[in-house]
Formats: sequence, C-alpha cells, structure tokens
Amino acid sequence: MKIAPSILSADFTNLRRDIYLVEENGADYLHIDIMDGHFVPNITMGPNIVQAIRSITKLPLDVHLMIKKPEHFIEAFANAGADIISIHIEAATHIHAILQKIKKFHKKASIAINPGTPTSAIQAILSMVDQILIMSVNPGFGGQKFLPETLAKITEITTIKKNNKYSFDIEIDGGIDEYTIKQAKNAGANVFVAGSFIYNTTNPARKMKMLRDCLNFNF
Ligand code: DX5
Ligand code: ZN
Repeated sequence: MKIAPSILSADFTNLRRDIYLVEENGADYLHIDIMDGHFVPNITMGPNIVQAIRSITKLPLDVHLMIKKPEHFIEAFANAGADIISIHIEAATHIHAILQKIKKFHKKASIAINPGTPTSAIQAILSMVDQILIMSVNPGFGGQKFLPETLAKITEITTIKKNNKYSFDIEIDGGIDEYTIKQAKNAGANVFVAGSFIYNTTNPARKMKMLRDCLNFNF
C-alpha cells in the first residue's frame, strides 16, 4: 500500500519544506499534477519544476499528465526525472505507441481514466501498463469531493487483474480522506493520492499518519 501526496495543494513558496514534510512522514511517491489548460481547465507546472524537485528528493516521482498530445512531452518529463508517467486515455490517439515510448525511456507506464470513461476503454492495453490511475474526481483541481460511483471501476479493474494475474498497481486520485481511502482500499486500490487532505491543514504530518493508519488497520 502506497501513499502518494499530491503537491498540487502544497505551499509553492515553501515547496521544499512541504516535500520534506511528506517525505519524512512516510510518503511512498510524490504525485505531481501537470495541467495544460486544454485537456483540463487549469494550468500548473512543466518539466522544469519536475527537474527541480528531482534534485531535492529521492522519492519516486509519480507524474500525472493531464495534457493534450502527451506524446510530445514524454521525453521531456522522462529526462526531467519522472519515475512513473501517467497519460490519460481520453488524451491519447495512439495509446499503444505512447506507452511504448514511456517504456523506451525505462519509466513506469501508467494509464489514467476519467470518471466518465468506462474501464472497457483501456482493455486492450492492460497487459502493457505498470499502473492504472482511476480518477475519482474530474481532473483539473484539488479539493473536490470523491465520486463514489468510481469505486465500481476499481472493483472491475481488480477483478480483471486477478483473473489475468496482472501485476499493475491500481492508483486512486481525487477526494481521498480518512473515509474514502478505506473505501478505495476495500475495492482493491493499492496506491492512494491525496492533496488537500494532507496540505490544507496546519499539521500535514498528522494527516499522513491518519492515512497510514487507515491502510494498516481495519477500524
Ligand atoms: C486533480 C489531480 C489530483 C489532485 C488531488 O486533477 O489529479 O492529483 O491533486 O487533490 P485532492 O486530494 O485534493 O482531491
Ligand atoms: Zn493527479
């Protein structure tokens, strides 16, 4: 079970401090949300920020590309130091070729699906991905409410994973808190992204511990 804090809700004037806060409190990955203002109605950061973050942390960088034409940016994010690269099925015309490209750079290939996209849309490429990122909010902003109907998609993917003995990780992203993390875990997710729950508080360390306790204990 892995916790992937999203720096989208961090204090950008204190980014180093906020990265160390989660690193020292048990983060497994650092989740970095890249938005282009086209695929989603928001703009965040680019490869230069990923590169800067790479220079100050050893945490695996879980880079979530919410951008159109992701094939044009795989190389830039790979060279910037991404370890896992997620691309959206809704943004990819030649999905197979893009996943091949991510692997060519020896990075983990992850496919992301929006709340409105059925799991059947990614069926053909399940055997070649290292991770499936199931969005539990519509992508674009932190701090949105978890969409419970997305739990059924985790269950579906978990069943397909078991039946085919696939080894990909199942990541859930959006609206994760001390309640929804348990629901997602019970449905079969094993990587949990959390942004506002951790950072929009005076005590991120306590929030990290709360999430870890939810994963370790059934209460
Ligand atoms: C939303 C991003 C998420 C976001 C999650 O488009 O993909 O990673 O940071 O933020 P919370 O945990 O606040 O929903
Ligand atoms: Zn994300």
